[in-house]
Amino acid sequence: MNYNATEKGYYGEFGGAYIPEMLYPNVEELRQNYLKVMVEPDFKKEFDQLLKDYVGRPSPLYFAKRLSEKYNTKVYLKREDLNHTGAHKVNNTIGQILMAKRLKKTRIIAETGAGQHGVATATVCALMGMKCVVYMGEIDIARQAPNVARMKMLGAEVRPALSGSRTLKDATNEAIRDWINNPVDTHYIIGSAIGPHPYPDMVTRFQSIISEEIKWQLKEKEGRENPDYVVACIGGGSNAAGTYYHFLHEPEVGIIAVEAAGKGVNSGESAATSALGKEGVIHGCKTLLMQTNDGQITEPYSISAGLDYPGVGPLHAHLYTSGRGEFYSATDDEAMNSGLELTQLEGIIPAIETSHALAIFKHKTFKPDDVVVISLSGRGDKDLDNYIKYFNL
Ligand SMILES: Cc1ncc(COP(=O)(O)O)c(C=O)c1O
Repeated sequence: MNYNATEKGYYGEFGGAYIPEMLYPNVEELRQNYLKVMVEPDFKKEFDQLLKDYVGRPSPLYFAKRLSEKYNTKVYLKREDLNHTGAHKVNNTIGQILMAKRLKKTRIIAETGAGQHGVATATVCALMGMKCVVYMGEIDIARQAPNVARMKMLGAEVRPALSGSRTLKDATNEAIRDWINNPVDTHYIIGSAIGPHPYPDMVTRFQSIISEEIKWQLKEKEGRENPDYVVACIGGGSNAAGTYYHFLHEPEVGIIAVEAAGKGVNSGESAATSALGKEGVIHGCKTLLMQTNDGQITEPYSISAGLDYPGVGPLHAHLYTSGRGEFYSATDDEAMNSGLELTQLEGIIPAIETSHALAIFKHKTFKPDDVVVISLSGRGDKDLDNYIKYFNL
């Protein structure tokens, strides 16, 4: 089975580019150019250099001794939380800002949920001297205040999305509306492995540095390139896509995805997209989507702003329906407790999104000699207030 995007951007039956006519020239320009640009030696050189000197890559692969002892297995953490700006998101924004420059764009727009993608976008815009507008749901603006302040300080304009659940989906709607109105000078930096083709594939390729590094780092530490499992949380699915990429066609590597169950998969307040979703189209791609019987999008819920999205990237929809990936969903409570557990066992405060991946130990028992690599997608500074309130610290 093939788990990479086809030329038209399909992963099995999912993907494609379902876009309004007004967006066609933009998306088509990107589709025709992205693969060519990504292999240009100048582009690669600039991308690699910035990842090294600006982002601080390679990010460490850390053997978590106390966590391993607790769960009687070998746990490695891929430390994307140590990247400049505090999450994996910056790998993609560096790639896309360089792409935008090659395409002669002068204005950048983005959507954000947790604010990490917004901060990563505002950061690269400051770096390149580009104008930046970030759309963010009104609810997320309130629950991720430190990131809103960072974006403003970096010179970005943060525009609130006031419709629907006032979270990530609604911010994405606003960003698409902006792009339709500004088709010539603007590049839309989508922050996850979602959207019309070529976005899911382009974002996945920029994030694939994560699994590229895991391979040689694990070889150094364990004498083999392939772990038994790779684990990641899934919002739209970019940290997961990057973590899985070089293992997708290695059948001995188990691929594990953890989605946000919110207050419980069947509580009516959930973002467990694969478990609850049916095939549908959202933000330009065909994927698994939470919807009513007549096809209206169901409002998602998760304590984590970055996982609070009713759809999932088309690669992940394919991994789910083909059975290549094992999918779990973690409740708010399981995630928060797993975040506190990591903090107190390893001295690492994870983002609440990442805490969902760590909740895998509440759902699956690994063997003592299994090597389990978990994507530590982001750091928890932005979530301190939420942790403190939740645990009454
Ligand atoms: C730290 C962190 N992890 C994970 C995610 C989820 O996004 P994705 O599924 O694209 O990795 C986000 C989104 O904001 C995030 O900030």
